[in-house]
Amino acid sequence: MDRPAAVVILAAGAGTRMKSKTPKVLNAISGRSLLGHAITAGSRVGAGRICVVVRHERDSVAADALSYDPDLLIADQDEVPGTGRAVHCALEALAGHGDPVDGTVVVTAADTPLLDGGTLRELVRTHEESGNAMTILTALMEEPAGYGRVVRSEGRVTKIVEDRDASTEERAIREINTGVYAFDGALLRETLSRVGQTNSQGEVYLTDVVGIAHISGRRVAAVVADDPWEVEGANDKVQLAHLAKEMNRRIVEDWMREGVTVIDPDTTWIDVDVELAPDVTILPNTQLQGACRVEEDAVIGPDTTLTDCEVGAGAQVVRTHGLLAVIGAGAQVGPFSYLRPGTELGANGKIGTFVETKNATMGEGTKIPHLSYVGDATIGEHTNIGAASVFVNYDGVTKHRTIVGSHCRMGSDNMYVAPVTIGDGAYSGAGTTLRRDVPPGALAINPASQRNVEGWVEAKRPGTAAAEAAARAREVLEAREAIPGTDYGAGDGRGAPNETSGTPADAPGASSAVGNEEKGAIE
Ligand code: UD1
Ligand code: CA
Repeated sequence: MDRPAAVVILAAGAGTRMKSKTPKVLNAISGRSLLGHAITAGSRVGAGRICVVVRHERDSVAADALSYDPDLLIADQDEVPGTGRAVHCALEALAGHGDPVDGTVVVTAADTPLLDGGTLRELVRTHEESGNAMTILTALMEEPAGYGRVVRSEGRVTKIVEDRDASTEERAIREINTGVYAFDGALLRETLSRVGQTNSQGEVYLTDVVGIAHISGRRVAAVVADDPWEVEGANDKVQLAHLAKEMNRRIVEDWMREGVTVIDPDTTWIDVDVELAPDVTILPNTQLQGACRVEEDAVIGPDTTLTDCEVGAGAQVVRTHGLLAVIGAGAQVGPFSYLRPGTELGANGKIGTFVETKNATMGEGTKIPHLSYVGDATIGEHTNIGAASVFVNYDGVTKHRTIVGSHCRMGSDNMYVAPVTIGDGAYSGAGTTLRRDVPPGALAINPASQRNVEGWVEAKRPGTAAAEAAARAREVLEAREAIPGTDYGAGDGRGAPNETSGTPADAPGASSAVGNEEKGAIE
């Protein structure tokens, strides 16, 4: 097969049936715009040039096209409407100031996202082997309404008639024009110049080339696509959803064939550019978007959305929302975690329940188990951040960074007022506001100690349930005090004896500060 001269992708139409401010061809399914799918399929033909015709929302459509292939040619359609005019403008742009395009020209529409590159190659092969002037990709549809119908006489294609211009008999024809063609470039140029605008829409129809070529005695043939899905156009939001579901079904099925376990294919959504290793497990209601990569034995879901994330081998990600985050091998995330861009969790680390992270690196084995915000931070290895901690990164004007070393045991309800640096092996007490750097191995606590005002509730809130409970407890204590040899009622205001083994006894407030950590109440 010769290398075709060009692939022309039509993307200039407004797509009014979408009833949306977004141009039709920029609607995305499976992580790519409709136009992006068309460009990907077109690139598989191996043509000398890919040309995308734009007009409606020209700049955003052109930018989207170039994001898929920076080398493609953008052709601007002028004010004359219709698919025929669009191709005419493409041929002019392709010729530039040089020679007109010769050889095979493939034309596709930007709104048939399931069209496969292999089908296009097959079309070109048939076209060239049969020496056709024009080969149309057609399909047999159960419900052909809306499509151009392929009219044949004695088996040969004689013309294509648009749905709205068709007679009742023509509307009954089930063979439809898919909008995908291979043309002899010279024929296309000559015939297009003879196409008028006398139809219900006043447009230059590319499909009129068929009738003109036939009458001129040129060889027009059709190839019937075996898979009607491939050629279905997304003209409105209903068709868009229908096609998105089918494309997703195919992607999910392909991954299952590659050894991925998908518990519920119906509620699992995987974008085209996602990469999954064998033995990944995906639980229901999970979306893997963009360029996610998941390594073997990882378990994702249920109820998880990851976009452009990397998940290491054996990691578990439960009920999580993640964007541009890296999750290390064996790490645990969730349930109910929010990983924002720049999150990097080391191997065997943990980001737990109701934890939000952003622009934060956590080394191997580091854990942020509960109810915390970690923004703009670098945390070393095997450090534990206590529950309900906030990395206070914003001073109202600028964001600042917090650095926490390795093997730290940080207390619950800590405020890390950035910029602040905590050295390796440091500890902090519960409720500490970290405004100053903490040297390695130091215990940080805020000195304000607790004061108990004895008898306050009975004196100030008489008659309440609390006051009554306090009175009952007081009476029990007073009765015990009357018995010699008990430990109770020492009257130091601290209640029961402490059990803070290993806590520096001389540190004011230290016992209550690190008590939780040591008792393992929160870890
Ligand atoms: C077109 C075909 C129809 C076929 C159907 C298949 C024509 C006249 N009709 O109809 O026979 O069954 O596709 O899906 O070709 N476009 C331009 N410039 C324009 C108008 C459209 O670039 O002036 C682009 C659109 O952006 C779109 C494609 O051409 O990507 C097809 O246009 P659309 O309006 O969807 O054509 P259909 O009515 O679906
Ligand atoms: Ca269409």
